[in-house]
Amino acid sequence: DTDECFVVAVDGPSGSGKSSTSRGVAQRKGYAYLDTGAMYRAATWLVLDSAVDSSDPAAVAALVARTELRVGTDPAAPTVSVAGTDVTAAIREPRISAAVSTVATNLEVRRLLIDQQRQIIAAARPGIVVEGRDITTVVAPDAQVRVLLVADPQARVARRKNELGETVADHEVHDQVIRRDRDDSTVAEFHDAAPGVRVVDSTELSLDEVVDQIVGLIDDQADRS
Ligand code: DC
Repeated sequence: DTDECFVVAVDGPSGSGKSSTSRGVAQRKGYAYLDTGAMYRAATWLVLDSAVDSSDPAAVAALVARTELRVGTDPAAPTVSVAGTDVTAAIREPRISAAVSTVATNLEVRRLLIDQQRQIIAAARPGIVVEGRDITTVVAPDAQVRVLLVADPQARVARRKNELGETVADHEVHDQVIRRDRDDSTVAEFHDAAPGVRVVDSTELSLDEVVDQIVGLIDDQADRS
């Protein structure tokens, strides 16, 4: 099928530069962009906005199943909405970051969101860059290009600090990044690259250099097929 979607799967921990890199790659290639973390964040926003007990996994899953989550896949302006409410900015609030691991470890919620992610991927043309934690292994294991983006913890803490601004103390940022690693690793093995997954270490690279590397992998792969 010559009309099939070219899929670029990018996994990595928080602060690895995953989002900026994935958006940059999608823009360079004219591809769509899917931020799966934003979907788990939107589901978390939904749960916190509702009267549902967040410690009741079946109730949380039922709420997510009956609510419309929509994600926009334009890399220049990614959006996400919950039952018609735009939550693009709200899902970045600290209260969402603090609660998201509980929702993301709900296996029924994962099943629902993974289903939706696969539908979005299948419908994209001519390609899509998909970022998350389980994209190379679970969501799109047969993606044409699979990348695990890594960076030293110190570099990731520094980047997160840059995003959060000067008002946040170093040890708080450090706690956030390192605690998130631990919470996230209960979902899946995020740190080891599955066979065939290319590890890209961004510690010593600029954003443009990382984008260049991944665009290079895409162009090599496209030449071969
Ligand atoms: O990448 P992020 O920080 O926006 O991700 C938010 C949360 O969702 C984080 O705790 C990891 C989780 N997540 C996941 O479990 N699977 C994904 N494919 C993407 C994110």
